[in-house]
Amino acid sequence: MKIPKRLEPLLQDALIDEVLGQLMSGKESEVYLVRCGDETRCAKVYKEIQHRSFHKQTQYTEGRKVRNSRRSRAMEKHSRFGRKEQEEVWQNAEGDALRCLADAGVRVPRTHGFSEGVLIMELIVDGDGAVAPRLNDLRLTETLAREYHRFLIDQVVLMLCAGLIHGDLSEFNILLAGDGPVIIDLPQVIDAAANNNAKRLFTRDVDNLATYFGQFAPELLATDFAAEIWHLYENGDLQPGTPLTGQFTCIEKAVDEDLVMREIDDARAEAMARL
Ligand SMILES: Nc1ncnc2c1ncn2[C@@H]1O[C@H](COP(=O)(O)OP(=O)(O)O)[C@@H](O)[C@H]1O
Ligand SMILES: [Mg+2]
Repeated sequence: MKIPKRLEPLLQDALIDEVLGQLMSGKESEVYLVRCGDETRCAKVYKEIQHRSFHKQTQYTEGRKVRNSRRSRAMEKHSRFGRKEQEEVWQNAEGDALRCLADAGVRVPRTHGFSEGVLIMELIVDGDGAVAPRLNDLRLTETLAREYHRFLIDQVVLMLCAGLIHGDLSEFNILLAGDGPVIIDLPQVIDAAANNNAKRLFTRDVDNLATYFGQFAPELLATDFAAEIWHLYENGDLQPGTPLTGQFTCIEKAVDEDLVMREIDDARAEAMARL
């Protein structure tokens, strides 16, 4: 095929040896099949920032640490340099997250380098070696839906224990490899401890799983793993493998009205005594 412009520098630097074809062209990226030595890999070319919704991005990046202070000041000013810097931080986030998550035991594509706005990673394949389908392209049996749902709940727990939330988890960003589901597409990854939108985005991710798998195993629609997991996480009780039920009842302490009235009376009496 004709070599896409954005991949030319990587061919020149011998990071890739051949472009085999285009896999996908999405809103945010173009994904190519490439050959590196005797391996077929995947090259994700990020689209420039003007092709993406810039303001939507800020809910994800809140609390992300920017190591370089010149870069951080430039980003605050929204100068052209600042935008370019922000673009780089956004693109780097995916490679960083993939490495961090692989270390934490999450099933994500292995990375093989990042250069000039292109991420080279493991190509996820199905049992026959063909490019893996997205969950959205499949019809599942009830048993498999239950099994994959449970596996993915365990995966989001592993992620949260590593301090990260996917932020755009759905049947479009999960591939079905020969050995089970693989989570992809992480440039919007969220710092769970530093981002004020963390709980909302975590809940959306986990609810998306229930909605998708609930089509095949309807009892999953009645689960509330998000609230249960978040409650454990906030209390510092969440660990990989913490037993989960999928049920959560918020136990609000019943207000003891008598006690409150007595406290008010006491305070009033004290104030009167002081007068
Ligand atoms: N490592 C991979 N292995 C196989 N296919 C992939 C891989 N990464 C991405 N794809 C394919 O490319 C599509 C777009 O990639 P994704 O990371 O989701 O970017 P986008 O932000 O454009 O949605 C995915 O839906 C999937 O079909
Ligand atoms: Mg995607």
